[in-house]
Amino acid sequence: MPSDPLLFGYSLAVDIETMARQGDALHLHLAGGRSVTLACPDLRGEKIVERLQAGPASHAALADICSDSMLVRILSQLALNQVLHWHFGPPDRPFCRVESFSGTYCPIYHPAEAAVLRQPLSRFACLRQEQGETILQNAELHARLVFLPGGQDVLAATLADPTPSAWRHFLFCTGFLEPVAAESPARESWEFHDLLFHDATRLFVGERPIGKRDRLKGKHPKPEKIAPPLSQDRIALPPVDTDRASASLRQVMALRRSLREPGEWPLQLADLSTFLGRTLQAQLKPDRPDDRRFRPMPNGGGAHELEFYILIQRCAGLDAGLYQYRESEHALYRLPANAALAKRATLLSAGAMGTEEAPPDCVILMASRLPKIAREYEGIAYRLSLLHAGVAMQSFYLVATDMGLSPCANGSGDSLVFERLTGLPLLQETAIAEFALSGRRVTTPAGPAADSERPPLH
Ligand SMILES: Cc1cc2nc3c(=O)[nH]c(=O)nc-3n(C[C@H](O)[C@H](O)[C@H](O)COP(=O)(O)O)c2cc1C
Repeated sequence: MPSDPLLFGYSLAVDIETMARQGDALHLHLAGGRSVTLACPDLRGEKIVERLQAGPASHAALADICSDSMLVRILSQLALNQVLHWHFGPPDRPFCRVESFSGTYCPIYHPAEAAVLRQPLSRFACLRQEQGETILQNAELHARLVFLPGGQDVLAATLADPTPSAWRHFLFCTGFLEPVAAESPARESWEFHDLLFHDATRLFVGERPIGKRDRLKGKHPKPEKIAPPLSQDRIALPPVDTDRASASLRQVMALRRSLREPGEWPLQLADLSTFLGRTLQAQLKPDRPDDRRFRPMPNGGGAHELEFYILIQRCAGLDAGLYQYRESEHALYRLPANAALAKRATLLSAGAMGTEEAPPDCVILMASRLPKIAREYEGIAYRLSLLHAGVAMQSFYLVATDMGLSPCANGSGDSLVFERLTGLPLLQETAIAEFALSGRRVTTPAGPAADSERPPLH
């Protein structure tokens, strides 16, 4: 059997400062102030903990202290409380360490048939570099294996070698090999990148550093609060129509539908202006600065890292082309975008809706200045931008519905086309969502449009 309990070992992930027994409970006080209580009826608990306090220990060394079932019980409790790490190699100079940000991960050494060790690496595993370390990450386990100097060259190079070995046995026991059983339909539904993103941006009863923190503080200056104009070609928008009747929220919610075909009437500049003003323009008040934190839509941490670009195909009063919207001025800035690329972006939106023959009047391209929100939140910047795009989509739907316009969210888009259209480097600002908006219809979900709804002729 290619396994070796001398090479499979455990160590403490965090120092245990004190240990105290109270009946069947063993209380551990950890460095950093956290406390953990182990259910452990006899002194073997103390012995295991003391052995780990002395330094990394092999499974064989711990098995000498107590029987398998008690050992599993103690190790599992340490693992589920994130007090345990695992290693492969001699305890005094291991080749790799396994750590987890999840309170559900607790691999324990156990024998295995040679056949299962021939399984390939998990399809959710990936090898990557982080701060000079080589890491084998497994999104399904919410765990990662860190290669240590002695193991990097030898072990990392053999990850694809299925020959049964003690190393392969370690990968099996720690869950890094693909399971032998056929994939369940639920597991098969998850693509690699979906689970990687999910794993990396959620907590799993774990101690992961996710949340409000600037991990680059002092290293780089913060990006500008608001993106500068990208051209000199400024077009002041007509005033937002605040006198126009508005249906009740209840009615608007009930009437909202995705309308993919453009309306009979082209989008009007006045409507576009009112739509942008109602959805994106900060509500100016005498005691408030001109600040996008007062935009009509909510935003995590008030970062407002999303920028909005308006790709016009058909709009009475406005030339076709790509425009940057700056809500603080309620103005559009025309970008010198390549016409063929702009057409391609419009057709991509039409393609997403199955309306290639009748592309939308306008597509709103939502772009995230990710470096901006990454300075507010650690670990979840991209997740927040996607959530913000969803928030914007619902605002767009509701206001478009209220105005009798034709809205439809798009699930797919091309960030490289956006990069080429705007000239913005992808890592600085990138399109993450698209929304099609077209003019009014003769018949809306609410019924025939009133004469007053008919747009003025141009
Ligand atoms: C995030 C999101 C992405 C969408 N992507 C598309 C899309 O790419 N193409 C499309 O035709 N409709 C798209 N839709 C619209 C949905 O198909 C639509 O909301 C759904 O069929 C329900 O219809 P309703 O909006 O009329 O209630 C999307 C909707 C959302 C919220």
